[in-house]
Amino acid sequence: MTFDVAKVRAEFPILARQVNGKPLIYLDSAASAQKPRAVIEAMGEAMGGSYANVHRGIHTLANETTEAYEKARESVRRLLNAKSAGEIVFTKGTTEAINLVAASFGRSLQAGDEIVLSVMEHHANIVPWHFLRERHGIVLKFIPVADDGRLDLEAYRALLGPKTRMVAVSHMSNVLGTINPVAEIVEGAHAAGALTLIDGAQAVVHTKVDVQALDADFYAFSGHKLYGPTGIGALYATADRLAALPPYQGGGEMIGTVTLDSITYADPPHRFEAGTPPILEAIGLGAAIAWLETLDRDAVAAHEHALYERVKSGLNGANWISEIGRAPGKGAIFAFTLEGAHAHDVAQILDRYGIAVRAGTHCAEPLMRRFGLTASARASFALYNTLQEADSFVEALHKTRTFFS
Ligand SMILES: Cc1ncc(COP(=O)(O)O)c(C=O)c1O
Repeated sequence: MTFDVAKVRAEFPILARQVNGKPLIYLDSAASAQKPRAVIEAMGEAMGGSYANVHRGIHTLANETTEAYEKARESVRRLLNAKSAGEIVFTKGTTEAINLVAASFGRSLQAGDEIVLSVMEHHANIVPWHFLRERHGIVLKFIPVADDGRLDLEAYRALLGPKTRMVAVSHMSNVLGTINPVAEIVEGAHAAGALTLIDGAQAVVHTKVDVQALDADFYAFSGHKLYGPTGIGALYATADRLAALPPYQGGGEMIGTVTLDSITYADPPHRFEAGTPPILEAIGLGAAIAWLETLDRDAVAAHEHALYERVKSGLNGANWISEIGRAPGKGAIFAFTLEGAHAHDVAQILDRYGIAVRAGTHCAEPLMRRFGLTASARASFALYNTLQEADSFVEALHKTRTFFS
């Protein structure tokens, strides 16, 4: 299989639109990706053709919808190469998945127990653990980040100790683009007797993930970054980890029996899916995964990398742009500051050229602080971006620079 970017672009209706009189160049996919027709149609067809609540009914539509919902779970299983679909819990996204683990696993922790995170984490993988620090006296430790954006693995090993209960790190940084050596990190954590949670929000989009090979206890991602809808994501956990975890939220769907003075719980994964789940969104995510499976993921990764390299070579070492994160093998994310201009102003000027980039802290304030910044701009590349768009981005950066100099 080869990769045909024109053919792929044609699947995304939004890419045909103009912004400020210019063809849209969407370089904000790390925040949320655009949706292919397969996803839009799958959700529309479910709403218009076969829709009811799941798991509760015995009528035809309820059965059909339940089947579609559970089929989506199986799609997520394939995506992550989990052993069984029972190891996949649908959540609202990465954030909810991490909150679930922090809240449920956190109940087994005691004051003084330690959790190891890294300085490059998204707030989604910091704040839920801070709750445990605030409420239960859990100690948080942070793996430092080197100047080029790599994690300091020697420092990591030194942080591990008899009180380490959990190591929670991102697979790929949403700012630096660094792809972390997760298998090695997991191995170290397990040797210290700790569990591991991997934030796969970015990595699942740009790399092939195999949770069995990584040996992670928990792995989280969001559907909307993977060309699927918002409001849906997943938490993978090994069957024994899920079985040992107390429920997170209470309500319908997650119980065995309820009496006035007792409750029993359903088996995982339903134990963790209280209430009516995001049915249509799960179906949309399943469609996104099925659509991605029609592509050669290695060719997609090579294409995305070529976009990043094109920008780098187009800038030709310009001394008025500083890139944040230059780790070898990094993913297709280009976070930068432009001399003499605030990141928000850069993003605003680029928008005039129809170019969408993100600006701010990227929900990674500790990382920004580590690099002495209050904000940066970020261009993130997706499978639908073209080399021509990369060139237009570089050209617009030059114009932005002229504007501010
Ligand atoms: C690395 C990383 N983790 C977590 C998240 C949070 O994802 P969500 O907002 O979809 O829950 C993001 C989103 O930007 C991210 O990039």
